[in-house]
Amino acid sequence: MEIINQNQIRNFVICAHIDHGKSTLADRFLELTKTIAKEKMRPQYLDAMDLEQERGITIKMHPVRMSYTLDAIRYTLNLIDTPGHVDFSYEVSRALAGVEGAILLVDAIKGIQAQTLANLELARKENLIIIPVINKIDLIEAKVQETKQELAKLLNTSPDEIFEISAKFGTNVENLLKAIIEKFTPPKREPEKPFRALIFDSKYDSFKGVIAYVKVVDGKIGLDEKIHLIQSKAEGKIKEIGYFTPELSPQKELKAGEIGYIATGIKEPRKVRVGETITKRTGVIKAEPLPGYQEPKPMVFASIYPENPNDFELLKEAISKLKLNDASLVFEPEIKEFLGRGFRCGFLGSLHAEIFSERIGREFGLNLVISFPSVAYKIINKKNEEFLIKTASDWPSESEIKEIQQPWVKLEIITPVIYLGEVLKILKERKAKHLQARHLSQERRLLIYEAPLKEIIVGFYDKLKNQTKGFASLNYEFLEYRRGNLVKLEILIAGKKEEPFSKIIFKEDGYFEGKKLVEKLKEILPGQLFSVPIQALISGRIIARETIRAKGKDVIAPLYGGDYTRKKKLLEKQKKGKKELKEKGRIEIPSKVFLEIFKQD
Ligand code: GTP
Repeated sequence: MEIINQNQIRNFVICAHIDHGKSTLADRFLELTKTIAKEKMRPQYLDAMDLEQERGITIKMHPVRMSYTLDAIRYTLNLIDTPGHVDFSYEVSRALAGVEGAILLVDAIKGIQAQTLANLELARKENLIIIPVINKIDLIEAKVQETKQELAKLLNTSPDEIFEISAKFGTNVENLLKAIIEKFTPPKREPEKPFRALIFDSKYDSFKGVIAYVKVVDGKIGLDEKIHLIQSKAEGKIKEIGYFTPELSPQKELKAGEIGYIATGIKEPRKVRVGETITKRTGVIKAEPLPGYQEPKPMVFASIYPENPNDFELLKEAISKLKLNDASLVFEPEIKEFLGRGFRCGFLGSLHAEIFSERIGREFGLNLVISFPSVAYKIINKKNEEFLIKTASDWPSESEIKEIQQPWVKLEIITPVIYLGEVLKILKERKAKHLQARHLSQERRLLIYEAPLKEIIVGFYDKLKNQTKGFASLNYEFLEYRRGNLVKLEILIAGKKEEPFSKIIFKEDGYFEGKKLVEKLKEILPGQLFSVPIQALISGRIIARETIRAKGKDVIAPLYGGDYTRKKKLLEKQKKGKKELKEKGRIEIPSKVFLEIFKQD
């Protein structure tokens, strides 16, 4: 095995706003370093999940180890590709904690975007060395000079320090690779100290147990050694260790400064958590845990049920496995009368929730029913006790409530001036308040607003993108809980409360929201044999109503002019059938109705 000393290692990330070309640049690096043979190359190679390839976005971070020779010295380059969407910034922050340098990539047409700013802030917090790069210079519309000015101003550096590349055609990419070696520092680690490694991701393998993705901080470890996890106190015997090429490539040893994987042999996923420290089980030396990661804070909650109630156990298994690979997911079991057994899950945002349900569908073949996404409200009751409510069905009765508080977030939106009018209109609709506006350039503004989180979790991002032809970008962060005038909107169908349709709304929007929801339900619910009232209720008062007319099946038509007793018999039978349905107290609501309703909000 080739010996690489620490000075020949560079660990770095590419961070950028969504679609600015991270994965394409990573492809060029993989080619230049001959990590992937040219004939095996396909675009966005590191986006291995089907879902990533199809949607063209990076969801998970993907580590890869490459080799490159400069001035007759062979270097090891560990690249972690990171996701760009605002919902996945937690993944970005974890990746940044494992490296020394960051390439900050900016699209030459779109310029600096909200996520560029957010990533830059994270990189600065970690004291990373930053190489600024402008991508897509091959495009005719590329505004290279303008973007350079913006970026130089933001970084407080000279425009000459900024690289101009085309990741698509490889222009100037080799020079960038050389700059990575020259500008980024090697990891400062201590190979002589007892072994310690930080887990930054993991996946499950039914033969090898949990495979932990690690950054080795001190010492070294070899095959067959016994390990001890400091926080969970779990123990295991190593089944395999290795690097990412980007597939798992088994090796004999992992040492300080390297990024690789350890197949722990541990079969219980919950014992191998991201942020844990792995040490050797020596029994003598007491190692200190490494600083882990901040626990991610889920912001959006939704209840998830299997479409077929018998699939509960399968869903449970699926969620536990996804959790391994998605540290920001939180869940707890819940039972609802109509839907059976399911889970209440916490997500970082609505895209995260959407991707989660698609992964459950694809990777485990399960169809889900998902409730309205909700934020966590803080309720203070008459006894001055405080508690968090994550779903409308847990809302206490009004007589118990003293005060309701809801989360507010700070929004950063970057938009071209020509779309300013549209953006301000959307912000007003969502009850956002102006804090600050800044000129990034003549044509572009940075708007800083604050808004109730509830108003932006569903549909806001899509609307912003649609109204600005994809040019506006958004980032948000939690600010604080503030008092709010909120009520619970409930839906009665055929006189029966259908809890999954309940939602928390602003009191002032009650009438409008109630009307909108009953109209939508009327449109989506399938026709019934008897007429069905759909009512919206707030504080026990009906505020809106629609009726689905009976879709009378003409049972006597074939008997036109025929035998009266036979006709009567058929009508009686129909009446009995309707009565039975009514007695059951409800109409059948296909699960696709739930999905339709939530999608349209
Ligand atoms: P996320 O993973 O979703 O965050 O996106 P990304 O930053 O990885 O972007 P990706 O590499 O998927 O590129 C987005 C789009 O831009 C793709 O259609 C690429 O083909 C295109 N693209 C990337 N680099 C260049 C470039 O240098 N020139 C041109 N013309 N197109 C590029």
